[in-house]
Amino acid sequence: MAGHIGIVGAGLVGGGWSIVFARAGEQVRVYDAAPTIRDEFKAVVGRQLDDLKSYDLVDDPAAILARIQVCGCLEDVIKGACFVQESVLEQTEVKAEISNAIGPLLDDGAIVGSSTSGIPGSAFTEHAANRERFLVTHPVNPPYLVPVVEVVPTPWTAQDSVHAALALMTSVGQSPVLVRREVEGFILNRLQGALLREAWDLFEEGYASAEDIDKTVSVGLGLRWSFMGPFETIDLNAPGGVADYAERLGPLYHSIQKSRTDPKPWSAGLIGDVDKERRAALPTDKLAERRNWRDRRLMALAAHKAKQS
Ligand SMILES: NC(=O)c1ccc[n+]([C@@H]2O[C@H](COP(=O)([O-])OP(=O)(O)OC[C@H]3O[C@@H](n4cnc5c(N)ncnc54)[C@H](O)[C@@H]3O)[C@@H](O)[C@H]2O)c1
Repeated sequence: MAGHIGIVGAGLVGGGWSIVFARAGEQVRVYDAAPTIRDEFKAVVGRQLDDLKSYDLVDDPAAILARIQVCGCLEDVIKGACFVQESVLEQTEVKAEISNAIGPLLDDGAIVGSSTSGIPGSAFTEHAANRERFLVTHPVNPPYLVPVVEVVPTPWTAQDSVHAALALMTSVGQSPVLVRREVEGFILNRLQGALLREAWDLFEEGYASAEDIDKTVSVGLGLRWSFMGPFETIDLNAPGGVADYAERLGPLYHSIQKSRTDPKPWSAGLIGDVDKERRAALPTDKLAERRNWRDRRLMALAAHKAKQS
């Protein structure tokens, strides 16, 4: 592409995005407001690239790292960029402030995607210069292992910007999903929220332990979900496809839905009970080790999927 990729906010997600773009051959410039994050950035990303190399997910970590340049000011990252990925803190005011700072610095045609996990872009880009070139490009962490990206336009995002963001994400190896109009939580976190809601309720009502609820997903539903979604799953689970499935099991799901009519916050007591079970299974000081285990499992899965047609 003409121009580099700008990364604004270089924490967990900004670092992951820099790998996505540099791995695809793009030149990447990175800015973070915190000097310590800037100073440590290349070492952190270098370690992640070495891990990817150990699973044959990248060929040349040093060449990828060489395409990433850390800059000391926002302007150096935005000027000359064809696309900017914003990944600052998940607070509407912080996102509005940085969007207002980025807008006037944009080159002609440059687009800005926000990593926000669920705040509609219209809540923080309304007053930005060039606001028709802002939208949400929401990744899953880490984006270099989990390819889905939710592309969510605001009411004032130009169609050209949407198409360009979809094309860019595809060209760097991500799998974009178009969310046609804004909705809190977008698609991914609404689906996750629906599952979590039922998990908390079933636990609270004493139907199963947290471990057994987790197992139902990790050695049950989740095995299919790594290569097909809920609609394709039910399409294949009745001889005549989705319509047949709906006829057979629609009434069951309707009845389940009717039994959940009173949304409530997760209570402190309930959180405490789940936490007690989780901490007995995994003490707090082992969380980091387990996260590393999860990332290695994800790498092995990504390597497996890369070999499938
Ligand atoms: N962590 C996840 O699993 C995940 C997944 C998807 C999306 N997101 C979203 O990505 C965004 C970043 O999350 P994260 O987990 O990387 O957080 P993080 O705290 O690791 O990183 C945020 C970074 O933004 C920097 N920052 C804050 N204000 C800034 C400014 N004005 N200019 C430049 N840098 C600034 C901070 O110094 C920090 O390094 C959030 O919107 C979050 O909701 C997170």
